[in-house]
Amino acid sequence: MILEEKINEPIMRLIGEQADKLGLPCFVVGGWVRDLFLRRESKDIDVVVVGSGIDLAESVAKALGRGAHLSVFKTYGTAQVKKGDLELEFVGARKESYRKESRNPIVENGTLEEDQKRRDFTVNALAICLNKEHYGKLLDPFDGLVDLQNKILRTPCDPDITFSDDPLRMMRGVRFACKLGFELDASTFEAIQRNRARIEIITKERIAEELNKIMLSSKPSVGWVLLDKVGLLSYILPELKALQGIEVKEYVGHKDIFLHTMQVLDNVAKAQDEQGEKKESYLWLRWAALLHDIGKPKTKQWSGKTWTFHNHNYIGMKMVGSIFKKLKLPQNEKMDYVKKMVDLHMRPISLVEDTVTDSAVRRLLFEAGDDVEDLMMLCHADITSKNAQKVEKYHQNFVLVQQKMVELEERDRIRNFQPPVDGQEIMELLHLPPSPVVGELKTAIKDAILDGIIPNEHEAAKAYLMQLAKEKQLL
Ligand code: CTP
Repeated sequence: MILEEKINEPIMRLIGEQADKLGLPCFVVGGWVRDLFLRRESKDIDVVVVGSGIDLAESVAKALGRGAHLSVFKTYGTAQVKKGDLELEFVGARKESYRKESRNPIVENGTLEEDQKRRDFTVNALAICLNKEHYGKLLDPFDGLVDLQNKILRTPCDPDITFSDDPLRMMRGVRFACKLGFELDASTFEAIQRNRARIEIITKERIAEELNKIMLSSKPSVGWVLLDKVGLLSYILPELKALQGIEVKEYVGHKDIFLHTMQVLDNVAKAQDEQGEKKESYLWLRWAALLHDIGKPKTKQWSGKTWTFHNHNYIGMKMVGSIFKKLKLPQNEKMDYVKKMVDLHMRPISLVEDTVTDSAVRRLLFEAGDDVEDLMMLCHADITSKNAQKVEKYHQNFVLVQQKMVELEERDRIRNFQPPVDGQEIMELLHLPPSPVVGELKTAIKDAILDGIIPNEHEAAKAYLMQLAKEKQLL
């Protein structure tokens, strides 16, 4: 949609008309205006009013009629109007720093320019007038448009003030740089370095929100590398920082695990983005990619000949739990999925290093379940060797494993394994009370199926059970 069409959308006209009725100067501002010039889709609309944002929100909600929902936050002088997909935020222009989630009420009214000056970046401080007399006029006292064209993130006022007003803005700067492909201007960059320790006063939830946005960008490594450059990474995820560097013994080094991780993360992002439609669930495979080798520093050993990282997948899986807890990321099935991916990420590789046996593939199908495609995507992404021949060989071997998976799954239906003879039936057939032996028999049947001794069928499993019972003299 071209610029003009967008600014002339009926909702913009409606807000302007209501503001004129109340005699209030009113402007659309922030991300919506930035994205308008970048020709990006933007959902939320932020409106700043020289006067009461709440009064304007009330009359806009009325004018929108049925289905419009108004929420007023008196202490903060803000109001929100929602109708269907539409989300409008209203705020009175203020002298003090603009902070959406601030705990402190900000009451001192200001001019539009004072309000713009206390926003995070010049490209977010662009305002367009919605009043009839100057409808569509751009107010850009800090040259935000020039910065937008030059792809620069710069604070409208002294960056030390901007970041000390709200240290989360340091993360926002990195996120915008990563998402929009912008650069932090030198003085802004240096101010973040100086103020980095202030990130500690920000809640983990708000930090995680920014990290997730970085993760969902098309090249998330840009965000993580920048977080490192400005010095924020050590505060946010020291475990990732610990992956940096190469140790050499007897002329043998290992790869820089941080750089490798960055490549794996981007590989996953690229593979997912190529699948088309952007999904929220993509996020968790990206976290798995970021953390897949997180256990390596703790398990690193020099064997006398080479570097080993025994069990790094298991240690890494344990670390996922503590990292998710610390970052206030979800402690639910999403975390379990990330743990599973980290734990299993070596399995397909070890499969292709030996000859690929049916039973090994069945076991992998059993453990990965419905997430097996995601696991294979992670494994493909994990091949970052500089040796093109090696890379090609691994990819080809993975394809073989994947073909085998399809064949075996078709035949044995392992992915969502349900025991063909359940505990209840075992107890009835063998006249057993509930006891550990029932569990042992169930496991033996499952193993027999995974090892290809019997097919995954009721009758075969029952016959196998009876044979086992005889051998164990349970009959
Ligand atoms: N803002 C700010 N400091 C913050 C948060 C927000 O100065 N810590 C200002 C910026 O002017 C920003 C506007 O409030 O553009 C709206 O904030 P928000 O909706 O959080 O972000 P957007 O810039 O709209 O970007 P996005 O929707 O992509 O997050």
